[in-house]
Amino acid sequence: MAEPAFARSRFFSRLGARRLGRTLVTLAETASTNDEAWAACAAGAPHGTTVVAEAQTRGRGRAGRAWHTAPGKALAISVALHRNGRGAPLGLVPLAAGLAVARALERLGAAPSLKWPNDVLLGGRKVAGVLCESRRLSLAEGGARGPGALEAVVVGVGVNVLQAEDDFPAALAGSATSLAREGVAARREEVAAAFLDALEPLWEELERGSRGTLLEEWSARATFWGRPVTARTPVGEVRGEARALTPDGALRLVDADGAAIDVLAGDLSVETGS
Ligand code: BTN
Repeated sequence: MAEPAFARSRFFSRLGARRLGRTLVTLAETASTNDEAWAACAAGAPHGTTVVAEAQTRGRGRAGRAWHTAPGKALAISVALHRNGRGAPLGLVPLAAGLAVARALERLGAAPSLKWPNDVLLGGRKVAGVLCESRRLSLAEGGARGPGALEAVVVGVGVNVLQAEDDFPAALAGSATSLAREGVAARREEVAAAFLDALEPLWEELERGSRGTLLEEWSARATFWGRPVTARTPVGEVRGEARALTPDGALRLVDADGAAIDVLAGDLSVETGS
């Protein structure tokens, strides 16, 4: 059953993060919460400004795909993060964002796994997707920061929270799930707060130029190590056995000739073993 609009008071009563989510924009409908977060950045909104919408008319997924948000049932959330220019490589941000979603769902009682670069799965089906975008903005006003350049990342997350089986389009029936379908009773406000609480320390670690335990923790939640995979990259398909993450967040495969290939961006299909 769909819930009434995202309850700000419930969200703030759960939120522990000091900076992320403290400025919160809640919308009934928008094209994309990532676009709203970029608009907020350009208008000088503070680090951690967060946008949540009940519905998106042009929600974006990775690789130019569309993302559907079921009104009142799914969480569509974007958070704008200011960079200090001395942080860890950008390729680590999607991993940190996926790990934050996984940790959030664990806090709510789920046992998720991760598929590179940042799909979050429950029972082998996708329960959440992450779209990270980075830009350099020239700010005329800059809000509290004053005018100047701003390097920022917007992390957008879609989580299937309350959908029942027949809420998913037929094309996603076998590949998508929701927290409710997997027996995890959680509200969208709790998922949002838990996500921001988990992302804040990971982001601060990256901004200090450190990876902390990101790569180890991410790797421990992946189930495809040692399996044959196909990575669809912007420059073609690569097949190999999934071996490890590189320090920059790429996925290292070893192909049939034993050559190591580091995949920087793409979508992964994991071959199911017989
Ligand atoms: C993917 O798995 O392809 C990424 C999906 C990301 C969807 C979220 S929903 C909130 C934010 N706004 C968007 O337009 N996209 C992201």
